[in-house]
Amino acid sequence: MSELMGNLKRTDMCGSFRIGDAGREVTVMGWVQKKRNLGSLIFADLRDRTGLVQIVFDENEHNGTFEKAESLRSEFVIAVKGKVRERSSKTTKIPTGDIEILAGELKILNEAETTPFEITEESNVNEMLRLKYRYLDLRRGELQKIFATRFEVTRATREYLDNNGFMEVETPMLGKSSPEGAREYLVPSRVHPGCFYALPQSPQLYKQLLMIAGFDRYYQITKCFRDEDLRANRQPEFTQIDLEMSFVEKIEDVLYPVEGLIKNIFKRAIGMDLGEEHFRTMTYKEAMTRFGSDKPDTRFGLEIVDVSEAAAKCDFKVFKDALAINGILKGSVRAINAKGFASKLSRKDIDALGEYVKTLGAKGLAWLSYPEGGEIKGSFLKFLTPENVKELSEATDFKPGDVLFFAADKDYVVFNALGGLRLYLGDKYNLYDKNSYDILWITEFPMFEYSEEEERFVAVHHPFTAPLDEDLDLCETDPMNARAKAYDIVINGQEAGGGTIRIHSREVQERMFKILGFSEADIKERFGFFVDAFRYGAPPHGGLALGLDRFVMLLTKTDNIKDVIAFPKVQTASCVMTDAPSPVTDKQLKELSLAMSDSEKKA
Ligand code: AMO
Ligand code: AMP
Repeated sequence: MSELMGNLKRTDMCGSFRIGDAGREVTVMGWVQKKRNLGSLIFADLRDRTGLVQIVFDENEHNGTFEKAESLRSEFVIAVKGKVRERSSKTTKIPTGDIEILAGELKILNEAETTPFEITEESNVNEMLRLKYRYLDLRRGELQKIFATRFEVTRATREYLDNNGFMEVETPMLGKSSPEGAREYLVPSRVHPGCFYALPQSPQLYKQLLMIAGFDRYYQITKCFRDEDLRANRQPEFTQIDLEMSFVEKIEDVLYPVEGLIKNIFKRAIGMDLGEEHFRTMTYKEAMTRFGSDKPDTRFGLEIVDVSEAAAKCDFKVFKDALAINGILKGSVRAINAKGFASKLSRKDIDALGEYVKTLGAKGLAWLSYPEGGEIKGSFLKFLTPENVKELSEATDFKPGDVLFFAADKDYVVFNALGGLRLYLGDKYNLYDKNSYDILWITEFPMFEYSEEEERFVAVHHPFTAPLDEDLDLCETDPMNARAKAYDIVINGQEAGGGTIRIHSREVQERMFKILGFSEADIKERFGFFVDAFRYGAPPHGGLALGLDRFVMLLTKTDNIKDVIAFPKVQTASCVMTDAPSPVTDKQLKELSLAMSDSEKKA
């Protein structure tokens, strides 16, 4: 039977007690995690947001609490008044393990039915069940710790940005659809039948308009919505720490303040001092050629080496085909030297790696292995002259004990295959300290990429990104080699954020639109209001957005983004707790002037 709290007022949180509290008269409230009945003593672990504390109900105290405690079950909500005392059998398993509370008064504030799963750290419970009862899952200490860290991250963010001249401004959730980038979530308008708002993929345009409005430095911790295929580090709604600065021109004008922000977050959220030095920077080109990725994890080697020159001399069809099609240089042959792996990898392991890179789009994985004290073996050795072997070895520093892996194809396929192979080997063979942090800026991204589908150049970041000053003319003469004032912050091989210096000159903007193949009508239709604003005095500006969820994942060492979002969506973009999205009534549809075909209704 549930009781009122009555005269009981909470004095302390469960996880706060230490040996120095012994002797204090306290009142705690929370959930019963576990109860053990030992004859004349009942022990209960009481849980709240801060942790666990042991409560003792002693029959010999004759205060009535023992009899009441007999009815306690897991997840009952109780209030206990009692005296803190030193434990006879201490435990280091919990921070309050030196003490316990001898109950003098017990109130059962609410009872609980048997929960669908036990609320413990070691719960091996199916994820769907945990998400269905997310409020129970969130009771677990492990998740509570993650959300405490998440809160510290946003607090540290506000602290730093508030102290550095940034002003928090909210931008609309109901905006204009602009079908660039990811698919949007649309919201039908009741007042304007047939018209839709779009939920923001990011506050990009608004924050630039705020710069034109003279807000100087803006930030917002805000939800963004993208109707993309979900992955382990993607959710349809996620949070950005979004910022923009005026009167910046060089990328460092943005990078350095953001470094300050990231350092403050690390310090406050996990107590880590990242030092005074600036973060490392690496150009996109260097990242791709050395690590096969624009978000390299540089905590370990296994770097990629271009062996095209030596490969071109080999009479191996795979290499020849990749390097030259009708005599025109098409792709490349690149290799990874897995130093010391000859004794680690069986033939079966190597074949499995070949299958793995095929899932990354490669056609195969040629290899050479050089066992200590043995002869070189390999999948294509029969096509090689001793001179070929010598040249390939020199190019890759191939020595006894090593295994060489080769990919031959168009560059992007080769990078994807070897970049992926590198990560796979690094992870599987523990080539780095998984508790360390590797932070770097990737800069000088390409301005454009060619879209085969649209048969035109498209902006890699967005059409308002400024080119490097020295590459401005290249945008027209050699667009594929024009570089942008764009930057990503990469932490442990994850893209934690990115941004650009924006174009503020109308003339440059018009040139970019032309390269991207937008007609006057396109421009007016898609971003007329935005382009207009630039006629009335836009300051030089630039900014960036950090993915808050990904940041918290990195700080809490989880590889599942659902762990850092209180009420996340699953793979199918639905919420298993609320059953969203769900059908709506015909009345609602009618009000919104929406109609559904019969087949859709049945589905
Ligand atoms: P961008 O699209 O790179 O840039 O996004 C910034 C950061 O947001 C995170 N992120 C995501 N996190 C979880 N789930 C998703 N679906 C998801 N998509 C992106 C990533 C990413 O680095 N307006 C620009 C920023 C700017 O130029 O100022 C933007 O949105 O960590
Ligand atoms: P094959 O001649 O097809 O038997 O291939 C010989 C070796 O080359 C095998 O180890 C294949 O996995 C490998 N291979 C095939 N295509 C490629 C490629 N594009 N890049 C690298 N290795 C490849």
